[in-house]
Amino acid sequence: MRVCGLEEVGVVLSPTSVDEFSFLLLEGKRVAKGSYCAYLHPLAEVPVLCRVFDGSTVNPEMAPLGVGVALAKRGVKLGREQEVVVMKAESLGYLVEEGGVKVFKRPDFPPLTGGPVYAASEVEVKEFWRGGGLMVEVGRDPYSGVPVALDVDSMFKGHVAVYGQTRSGKTTFMLNLIAYASALGARFIVLDRYGEYGPPLKQLGALVLDASMFKSISDVDASSFVSSLGLDRRRKAGEVLAQAFEETRYELRRSERPLELLYSKAMSKVSRDQARIAAELKAALNRASSLIEELAKLPEEPPDVVELVKKHKVIVVDLSRERRVEWHQRIASSIIDYLASRAVATRGEEFAVSVVVEEAQFYAPEMAPGVPKYGDPEKSWSSLVSALSQLGGFNVGFFILTQRPAYVAKAVLSQCNTHVVFRLMAGADHDQVSSVTGYPRHRIASLVSGLRDHVGFLIGMASPFDFPVFLETKRSLHPAKASSPPSEVLKRMMSLEAS
Ligand SMILES: Nc1ncnc2c1ncn2[C@@H]1O[C@H](COP(=O)(O)OP(=O)(O)OP(=O)(O)O)[C@@H](O)[C@H]1O
Ligand SMILES: [Mg+2]
Repeated sequence: MRVCGLEEVGVVLSPTSVDEFSFLLLEGKRVAKGSYCAYLHPLAEVPVLCRVFDGSTVNPEMAPLGVGVALAKRGVKLGREQEVVVMKAESLGYLVEEGGVKVFKRPDFPPLTGGPVYAASEVEVKEFWRGGGLMVEVGRDPYSGVPVALDVDSMFKGHVAVYGQTRSGKTTFMLNLIAYASALGARFIVLDRYGEYGPPLKQLGALVLDASMFKSISDVDASSFVSSLGLDRRRKAGEVLAQAFEETRYELRRSERPLELLYSKAMSKVSRDQARIAAELKAALNRASSLIEELAKLPEEPPDVVELVKKHKVIVVDLSRERRVEWHQRIASSIIDYLASRAVATRGEEFAVSVVVEEAQFYAPEMAPGVPKYGDPEKSWSSLVSALSQLGGFNVGFFILTQRPAYVAKAVLSQCNTHVVFRLMAGADHDQVSSVTGYPRHRIASLVSGLRDHVGFLIGMASPFDFPVFLETKRSLHPAKASSPPSEVLKRMMSLEAS
């Protein structure tokens, strides 16, 4: 990166740490939050690329920052307002030549107070692009115009987390990434809670399967079975019924009278208090007759998802017709456990796939006070936590999407080596993202709070840059959801009411 020819826009005021400083904006210059700038490395004498992350207006007479001294030293004249703009910038890094190759260095020395700050843009940022390998172009950096692509190997091996408020653009990003990456050969299994992926991806040849196909009786856990009947496994009636369920679950399918089969199996384990336990069991089984009939119809084993992945590049498991979150959790857990056992058994040589988990807070909630817990997430929690920690090395990658990173287990998010952060407003979410990325919280809060739809902040290994970069996503597909805004639907409802 060259400095000569770059426009001087500011004067360094006070470095606050090795990678953060504030600078005074020179009169008539405009530098916005998010944009790039640079200073000359005092030791290496090469430019250090920086990004503006905050700014404020100060009256130099009131400011204790040494603003006045810096102004006088540089002969800067104040405008009529007698106020100056002070911007805060983070240093991103610099490039040095080592043995004929460009090597990236993290910030290691602050800028000198009073030194010049230059504007930087496309040409300067482009020099930091590190390509190579199979890359999928997903958008561009709106502050430099440089295209942003993701590295396929890093995504498959290291897992990607995608965060953002509702409507900020997570699903649209994921959907388009699937389209671009599958065209290059990548394979995906999408756990689609709302049926948004099926319609657009079907056009591209995806196999869309209703989640009911993945329900199997082997996924129903005996303890949750008895508790759904209102019994407790810690008491005798609950315990004998749980044992009876474990022993007869496959027989239930063939039985004409599944209720009686369960009842007699359970009673065969009771020697004392027979009358009381018989009454408890009868009452519970009668209350749950339709549930048991439904269970008795389930197949023994779900379809072999590995064989499906070998034949289809994209498989969408549409969960939208299943209302019960317990079933979403069981299906997710069963698919993930099966992929894990096959991937490990074949040492990752048989197949490579990425699993897309929408609304990860339902499957792997953070087990902490105040975090909502839906359904019965123990099993899906441990399936996900263990899969993310082991499977990267076996060519099974994960995309973890959530509106609320604070509600998703840190054990899951901290396994992701790439993070795409769309708009997030809540402090607890900034905390969580900061803790799993190591990126300072105050900068995350400042940079992602006001992001517009479809612009994310990309941090991590799959990025083509060694520092975080903004990403305005490229999109040709849209998730299948309401295409009319609420105001239009409300108007339509009103006219229907009137007629
Ligand atoms: N067919 C479409 N054409 C243009 N824009 C669309 C279309 N469908 C959705 N959008 C816009 O894309 C934006 C992001 O939607 P998206 O569903 O990707 O967000 P999200 O982060 O996944 O939200 P949620 O958390 O609610 O699932 C919304 O602002 C929406 O208005
Ligand atoms: Mg979404």
